[in-house]
Amino acid sequence: MTDDITALYSSAARSGPPLFFPDPEVPVSFNFDQGLAAPETFPQQQLLRLAQKILERDGAEALEYFDAATGYEELVFGYKGLRTQLAARYLETEGRTLDPRGIILTSGSVQAIALAVNGYVDRGDVVIVEAASFPYALRFMEMAGADVRSVPVDADGLDTDALEQLLIALAGEGRRVKMVYTIATFQLPTGVELSLPRRHRLLELAERFNFMILEDNVYGELRFAGEPLPSLLGLDTSGRVMQCNAFSKTVAPGLRLGWMAGSTQGIGALAGVRQDLGVSQWLSRLMAEFLAEGLFGPHVARAAEVYGRKCHAAASAVREHCGDYVRFREPNGSFYLWLEIDERVDWQRVAELAGKQGLFFRPGERFMGESDGRQYLRLAYSHVSEAVITTGIARLGAILHECARR
Ligand SMILES: Cc1ncc(COP(=O)(O)O)c(C=O)c1O
Repeated sequence: MTDDITALYSSAARSGPPLFFPDPEVPVSFNFDQGLAAPETFPQQQLLRLAQKILERDGAEALEYFDAATGYEELVFGYKGLRTQLAARYLETEGRTLDPRGIILTSGSVQAIALAVNGYVDRGDVVIVEAASFPYALRFMEMAGADVRSVPVDADGLDTDALEQLLIALAGEGRRVKMVYTIATFQLPTGVELSLPRRHRLLELAERFNFMILEDNVYGELRFAGEPLPSLLGLDTSGRVMQCNAFSKTVAPGLRLGWMAGSTQGIGALAGVRQDLGVSQWLSRLMAEFLAEGLFGPHVARAAEVYGRKCHAAASAVREHCGDYVRFREPNGSFYLWLEIDERVDWQRVAELAGKQGLFFRPGERFMGESDGRQYLRLAYSHVSEAVITTGIARLGAILHECARR
């Protein structure tokens, strides 16, 4: 037995929520819990070929900390070849010109969020988030000592009128708002998209009240319905938007390769706090080649089709089996259905019965800063087969009927 050394933990380590490693009582037969990319979309053959190509072409250079031709800046910003390819893609898809130093490569988009919080938020600064949001991002803000406030989300995304009211109230109290964190396209967990007028309004508010917008765009390219919207970064002219993104949802999460993109000044704050000697030179070269060969666009289009089929299967099964015990909107992209469970349903009992039957999903409370009393379920369809989607949701429907007051 080792001694109890938890008294030595920092206050941040002590204040954290218990780590959430799911440990179900029975084997999981229907896993709707995790928002993971579908393994059948991973481009294994292409990655294998490119891995060999890069090692043969670049030799030991591919295994260094940084490319000698570019030099030390890669210890902070990452491999320039990948940043250049990403910048070319932003120009092609968003019409936005980015400097290679307006992109910093990170270990997944979560590290980009962590660096942004570290680079912008001082203890006591206000950060505004959507009323239900990505728990890992919120945790970084809390660890930085931010005062985290939330704004409601409706069918058109973050409510910019409510945001304006909050900004006015905070300005009246002399509070300093540093950042608004928004998952503008395919919001997590609701799946809604921030409408174009609200995108413009948010950008105006950022200029008027002088705060940064952290746009989380990890799901933005996984659209299978509806018209594409320009990202906030694409619309930004003041340099107040930084966008985090990654290959985690579009290509494969195990690459652990993400980035933050913005103006050179905007990204400068992240560069200023980075001390970990950068990301894998090897995998960055590989993904730069994936983009340079023109493989990324067609790959994402195929992956989005897979999620479109799964989403349709999930939505049809929910309509058929869950009846009027749930309300939901079918999303235009991404990995999830966000189900509001009718108040007649005893939600606690549903969660218990579902767990006992090997049905695994994420209760809505885990995404909420403050709950509005309504009950939600996030159902991830991305990682499971269409057959499992249909039978698993049929079982969920039976449980909802069993746990409802009539
Ligand atoms: C909204 C959002 N941002 C970021 C991430 C994490 O992405 P990464 O694996 O690139 O760190 C996720 C993953 O679930 C997510 O849902």
